[in-house]
Amino acid sequence: MRRHYLMCRPTHFAVDYAINPWMDPAEPVDVVRAIDQWTRLVETYRDLGHDVDFIEPLPGLPDMVFTANGATVIDGTVLGVSFKHAERAAEAPAYLDWFTRAGFPTQAAKATNEGEGDLLLAGDVILAGTGFRTDHAARAEAQELFGRPVITLQLVDPRFYHLDTALCVLYPTPGSGRPEIAYLPEAFSPGSRRVLERLYPTAIKATERDAAVLGLNAVSDGERVVLPVQASDLARRLASEGYEPVGVDMSELRLAGGGPKCCTLEVRR
Ligand code: ARG
Repeated sequence: MRRHYLMCRPTHFAVDYAINPWMDPAEPVDVVRAIDQWTRLVETYRDLGHDVDFIEPLPGLPDMVFTANGATVIDGTVLGVSFKHAERAAEAPAYLDWFTRAGFPTQAAKATNEGEGDLLLAGDVILAGTGFRTDHAARAEAQELFGRPVITLQLVDPRFYHLDTALCVLYPTPGSGRPEIAYLPEAFSPGSRRVLERLYPTAIKATERDAAVLGLNAVSDGERVVLPVQASDLARRLASEGYEPVGVDMSELRLAGGGPKCCTLEVRR
């Protein structure tokens, strides 16, 4: 249950450009409030018994707080990222450098992939979102490096541009007797919905209301699920399925299209 997360203080947080529909550069953001909400998230993880490491925030990279997009780390091996948008490109080498210094074997990305935003480990398989950011070609790289089958899921709603805004892995292995994932069906193409139905017949289907507050952008340790406090339907549903919902307010970071999961990169040794 104990997890290891990498996070980045939103010291330079801003909405200076718009690369997803949540971002409106004309709307003011409160950096102090963002830092405060992020600090609570760190404290929440520590209270749950998790380890948190930090990467130095770099000036001019306002989205660097979203560490989920910095890498994919499975079995101690790191796949680097390559961002779709030039605005975030400089984050990729910074993350790779952090992992190299920390002693991890790393492989730079060839195809565009935005880390755990789109590549979610679910037990033996990797669920890979595509459609807005991560390229199809990234699947092969991830499958080859991690030795796990990669299942492609086609995202169709621009508000849910990363897989981790539309789907949350709750429990890594089947057979727990609980739903293994929660997702918003409407965020996926018809074929991908059928794939999800087939693989996870007992999944929690989130409501539009939950997804609209980025409720699916949640972090589960298999028992406790840290999610936006505004996602009340999902919290109730999780509790009824035997999970413990832990609400956090990330409303300021949501102005950039991010929630708790976006701010959290899982480091799997
Ligand atoms: N503004 C950032 C972007 O559009 C938000 C990233 C959110 N991260 C995530 N894992 N969903 O790239």
